[in-house]
Amino acid sequence: MCGIIGYVGDRSAAEILISGLSHLEYRGYDSSGVALMNDKEVNIYKAPGKLINLIEILKTKQNICAKSKIGIGHIRWATHGLPTTQNAHPHTCNCKNLTLVHNGIIENYQELKKELEQLGARFSSQTDTEVAAHLIAYEYGKTKNLLKAMLNATKKIKGAFAFCAIHKNEPDKIVVAKRNAPLIIGIGQEENFIASDIPAIIEYTKKAIYLSDYQVGVIKKDSIEIYNDNGTLVPNKIEYLPFEAVAISKMGYKHFMLKEIHEQGDVVRNILAGKLLSPEKNVVLDEFKLTKKEINNIKRIQIIACGTSYHAGLVGKYILEKFAKIPVDVEASSEYIYRDTIADKNTLAIGISQSGETADTITAIKQIKEQESHVAIITNRVDSTLARLSDSLLPVNAGIEVSVAATKSYIAQLISLYLLTIYLFEQKGLEQYKEEIRTLKQELMELPSKIEAIVENTTNIQEIAKKYSCYKDFIFIARGINYPNALEGALKLKEISYINATGYSAGELKHGPIAMLDNNMPVLALLNTGVVYDKVLSNCEEAKARQAKLIAVTNYIEPKDVPLFDDIINVPLGSETIGPAINIVVLQLLAYYIAEYLGKDVDQPRNLAKSVTVE
Ligand code: M6R
Repeated sequence: MCGIIGYVGDRSAAEILISGLSHLEYRGYDSSGVALMNDKEVNIYKAPGKLINLIEILKTKQNICAKSKIGIGHIRWATHGLPTTQNAHPHTCNCKNLTLVHNGIIENYQELKKELEQLGARFSSQTDTEVAAHLIAYEYGKTKNLLKAMLNATKKIKGAFAFCAIHKNEPDKIVVAKRNAPLIIGIGQEENFIASDIPAIIEYTKKAIYLSDYQVGVIKKDSIEIYNDNGTLVPNKIEYLPFEAVAISKMGYKHFMLKEIHEQGDVVRNILAGKLLSPEKNVVLDEFKLTKKEINNIKRIQIIACGTSYHAGLVGKYILEKFAKIPVDVEASSEYIYRDTIADKNTLAIGISQSGETADTITAIKQIKEQESHVAIITNRVDSTLARLSDSLLPVNAGIEVSVAATKSYIAQLISLYLLTIYLFEQKGLEQYKEEIRTLKQELMELPSKIEAIVENTTNIQEIAKKYSCYKDFIFIARGINYPNALEGALKLKEISYINATGYSAGELKHGPIAMLDNNMPVLALLNTGVVYDKVLSNCEEAKARQAKLIAVTNYIEPKDVPLFDDIINVPLGSETIGPAINIVVLQLLAYYIAEYLGKDVDQPRNLAKSVTVE
């Protein structure tokens, strides 16, 4: 959460910082700020709200912007204190010589604050970051050296951080440090960049150094020095960044979310390429590192993820248990980490994360690694912390996802889980459901065109979105393998439209939620062919009897059942197993058009951030 940017070179730092922050807005967007340094002074500008407010301020500071060739910037997702100007970064110390931006949470900030107050520090914000600024400044007072001050200060700090600091007395450098929060140093010609994520700097350079935990870096325009925590210089490990700049443009769509929904056909093609060549051939999954013997020894699977990725994991449970015959637990990472969990070397742990930086999932995966389980990571970011923790890295290659609401990454995660399931089935030489597996492979290959058929004709979905946008509450129901999509559909709707939407297993409706039903409560049912068709239908009848408005999203509906529903959205036919990868597209579009109709900020919904890097 939060975005960090830094620049040192010969260009106007302000321009680079603002451009970088605009590409980081998806990480947080409740306030922003920059510190611009030249030989004589450091100027700090901050604004609450969207980045545009900061841009307006900088327009009035052209002179300073032109002469400042070094600077640090920040876009905030509030953890400590309201999103006000005072709490916005950068933060500074009593003498204002030291300036700091920070991503993460300092857990011992209250103790540190008390100690620093006794030493004379005066605080003007509620943030933990300001405490770090005072601490580094205090250490600077002792050493008169920003590198040493950072090394000393970070030893006293508990928690997660990526820091970027500048000091008026050392006007040629930025000093950075990190622990459990990402930070990369982009390498240019006579200029260098710092960012918490690649999109902020990809248009300037493709070469970078990923700072490791406990390292401190000193970045000047013509040099980068990395030190370990005892102050020893370590060799620079240069890597190439994986993204193209074009991937972060809207390409003519009104919102990134809509663009990303439309990309899903290609996302499926990409992930299948080279892995699924024909229904008759075995799936190729070279990235999965367990041998046949080890696969046969897997006694259970634990899937760990948050939010949308967690919902993908729930679909994974249905298919892995049915086809690969391995018991699966799916758990929200935040719940996994504060209890005594049981895993061993015969457990396959699967972490799912679009960003690969979700703090709870990282902590859970570290916990499970200690228990010697094999860790497979399904992620969209091969450069992420989770990717680096994996034994088997299963990239979903969905391309950068900018909209806070996850769409194409969900489909990609589902496809990854389908492929893994088929792979395990084939490696184990199982016989039951052989024909279904062949059909599933066929359907995966046909999936892109089915998705495209949905996104290319959205008239019905748009009309239904308009009709239902006035409701304050929504219930999504489904059973079996589509149940996780009821959760995901409801999550999509609530996060971008702020409508109170809840997903339920259809069978659970009568155990409580039915009490809420009346004609003000639309119920959306995922009604697919398969073993639960009649069951879901009965649950719809029960809802109708309470006067709920009923919407069906269905791949087949018996003509006799049509009158039960107020509205019907048809999706292409497919087996029960492939259903979630088809009907989710409708739910994404429905949520999108409702939010769009209500005039909501679709790509950057309030209170959210794309990458949740705090526990
Ligand atoms: O990057 P991750 O997949 O680990 O993120 C987990 C959740 O924060 C994320 O899926 C969130 O629920 C989505 N933005 C919802 O659309």
